[in-house]
Amino acid sequence: MSNEWDDYAENWDVDPSVEEYAKKAFKELVNNININGLTVLDFGCGTGALTQLLSPTVKSIVAIDPSSEMIKHLDKKALNNVSSISDYLSDKLVQNSPVLGNKFDLIVASSVCGFLPDYEATLSLLKSLLKKDGLFVQWDWLSNDESADRGLSEKRVKQAFVANGFVNTTVNSPFIMSSSKGNMPVLMAIGKNA
Ligand SMILES: C[S@@+](CC[C@H](N)C(=O)[O-])C[C@H]1O[C@@H](n2cnc3c(N)ncnc32)[C@H](O)[C@@H]1O
Repeated sequence: MSNEWDDYAENWDVDPSVEEYAKKAFKELVNNININGLTVLDFGCGTGALTQLLSPTVKSIVAIDPSSEMIKHLDKKALNNVSSISDYLSDKLVQNSPVLGNKFDLIVASSVCGFLPDYEATLSLLKSLLKKDGLFVQWDWLSNDESADRGLSEKRVKQAFVANGFVNTTVNSPFIMSSSKGNMPVLMAIGKNA
């Protein structure tokens, strides 16, 4: 499977902001959740910047991304408790993929949901892959402009979580990424599968 993200794969891990984003997201994750021994789905894992940080503490990770080039770089890291899938997540894939047969304690999506063609529908599919009381956590560029092509607003994320029946939802902006384009706040949202 390939997509337009293939072109970024070669230089993804050498971009210091990728590592910085993953480290900040990971820090916020462990501040909020005890990840020890969890089974995890890393949705839109890219080259595995976050997967790599999760790997030593969690039980196992299924890392999925439609960009085969991104997945190639993840696979080179040879993380012993990580299985990778290069494909788009769909009902059909879930039915046919053995590693998606068991539900997850935790699903993470780091800088992915803002790029999806149908965020709300994907959230519904992701929720169906969580165990009861399992957690979904996402990070995205925070945008208050609903027509922006990348970021998500707190309002849209909250509505999507409520519409999909997530409970104990929190949505906030715990860190900022600084770049030549200025300061970009990052949204973090957590929801529990009741
Ligand atoms: C900004 S990168 C983030 C990668 C990684 N999570 C990280 O933090 O480094 C966005 C990723 O989303 C993936 N992506 C794009 N469209 C997707 C889709 N429809 N479903 C799942 N992942 C998608 C891309 O292939 C890319 O690897």
